Amino acid sequence: MGDITRLKKLFPEGYPKHPAVTGTSIARKLLGGTTKPNDKVVDPMCGLGSILVACIREKRHFWGCEINKEYYSFAREWVDKEIYGVTV
Ligand SMILES: C[S@@+](CC[C@H](N)C(=O)[O-])C[C@H]1O[C@@H](n2cnc3c(N)ncnc32)[C@H](O)[C@@H]1O
Repeated sequence: MGDITRLKKLFPEGYPKHPAVTGTSIARKLLGGTTKPNDKVVDPMCGLGSILVACIREKRHFWGCEINKEYYSFAREWVDKEIYGVTV
């Protein structure tokens, strides 16, 4: 629930409704227990990008894919904000 609240603050108007968001805090715990820094993580169904953002925070490389254009756009924007602090 905390992750959803943070998403709403980060994207107050553009937050798409997704039925199954993983959440970055859970993703970070999973990454910490299964991978090492600089490992490459593939998320072939990345949704809003929680796992990709968790990879950035946990210093993992990542590759993501998403079939839904709205979710994909959101994930790109979130990743850009996480890396650059702004949408690029
Ligand atoms: C369980 S959700 C992933 C949620 C993601 N971990 C997050 O936190 O936002 C699964 C995602 O897979 C996407 N998907 C389903 N079939 C796909 C396909 N063939 N290729 C890529 N993405 C697909 C769906 O649109 C959905 O966003």
